[in-house]
Amino acid sequence: MKTSILASQETGNTKGVPGADDFDVQRIRADFPILQRSVRGKPLIYFDNAATAQKPAVVIDSVDTYYRSMNANINRGVHYLGEQATLAYDDAREKIREFINAEDAREIVFVRGTTEAVNLIANTYGRKNIGKDDEIVITAMEHHSNIVPWQLLCEATGAKLRVVPITDDGELRLDEFEKILSERTKLVSVVYISNALGTVNAVKEIIDRAHRLGIPVMIDGAQSTPHCAIDVRRLDCDFYAFSGHKLFGPNGIGVLYGKVKFLDALPPFQGGGDMIRSVTFERTTYKDSPHKFEAGTPNISGAIGLGAAVDYVSCIGMTRIAEYERYLLKYATDKLAEVDGIKIIGTAKEKAGVISFVCDDVHPHDIGTVLDLDGIAIRAGHHCTQPLMERLGLVATARASFSFYNTFDEIDYFIDAVRRMLKVFKR
Ligand code: ALA
Repeated sequence: MKTSILASQETGNTKGVPGADDFDVQRIRADFPILQRSVRGKPLIYFDNAATAQKPAVVIDSVDTYYRSMNANINRGVHYLGEQATLAYDDAREKIREFINAEDAREIVFVRGTTEAVNLIANTYGRKNIGKDDEIVITAMEHHSNIVPWQLLCEATGAKLRVVPITDDGELRLDEFEKILSERTKLVSVVYISNALGTVNAVKEIIDRAHRLGIPVMIDGAQSTPHCAIDVRRLDCDFYAFSGHKLFGPNGIGVLYGKVKFLDALPPFQGGGDMIRSVTFERTTYKDSPHKFEAGTPNISGAIGLGAAVDYVSCIGMTRIAEYERYLLKYATDKLAEVDGIKIIGTAKEKAGVISFVCDDVHPHDIGTVLDLDGIAIRAGHHCTQPLMERLGLVATARASFSFYNTFDEIDYFIDAVRRMLKVFKR
């Protein structure tokens, strides 16, 4: 089996899927050192991209180069290295601005990841603008990181969380969304692509509907940013968050985008060095955004690595990436749907990157453990979406999540492994 996978990968076998041949996946795979390794004596098949994505050599090298030749603190030193590090950090911010088509680099705040971005908005915008009996609208398919920060805010302020329901297929009930919005709604915070189901939500429509009532909208872009071209100006979202590590960049770095008019009006999130204009024991004044929100020494190497990741995917093109992944997802969905005993969870019309599935006779953790013996990495569990699992009457699913370096051969191998796994458990 090992030989046949490698052999067919060499030919870039796209199983006759029209259009998919245009994408040179073998050349792309060569850019990712980890994809060359084997695990448990089998070639690694990495289908846990929704948890974290692998890193191309250019990203790893950019972090390495920073530490080997440029390491210094930013915005402080008068020396050469400090100047170089500051330039590289600012350059990374500019790359990200361009990548999501923000108007101004002041709208790009470096944070630890999506989770920190949501907490930042809850603790600044929320504390300033949301009070007792006000409402924050989220959806039934949110990740815990777009639920818990709002619950903490509600506990502190007496505000209420309203949840837009979903259909059994895992689609948002936009009719209910419309009904939930009222003059009490102070913020809508919605996931773009569900990490657990792969549903692509109609965020542009959600943003437009909320804006008609003057309600600002935050988008959780953790799963959308690696899978489709993002244009925050076209979306017209007020805040947008994503994590670097899911976008082929380093861990511990992410981005909060916010429109300048909002960011300028917000208080700081954390206090400390580098976010101030002047400090006395009586009073402190703050820098403008984004520095106001970046207290302390930031993750300089992470930002530089994320800049390199953005350069890398931009060279390939996010539209081409999205198109290739659409072929992969359809191919995998069709094949998995043919396997007796497997039920796909999440069958929305618009999906990206993810197939969640269950099997009556096998716990998702056992599915994951058995597939791992074949070198296939998937995730099993509640995917940090316990309320969603409860809505679907499940405690967990097995989840295969794809990226543009995955191949049609890997999907065939995965389907064979699922069939073998079912035979083992049904014996
Ligand atoms: N949110 C990440 C996932 O879906 C960790 O796996």
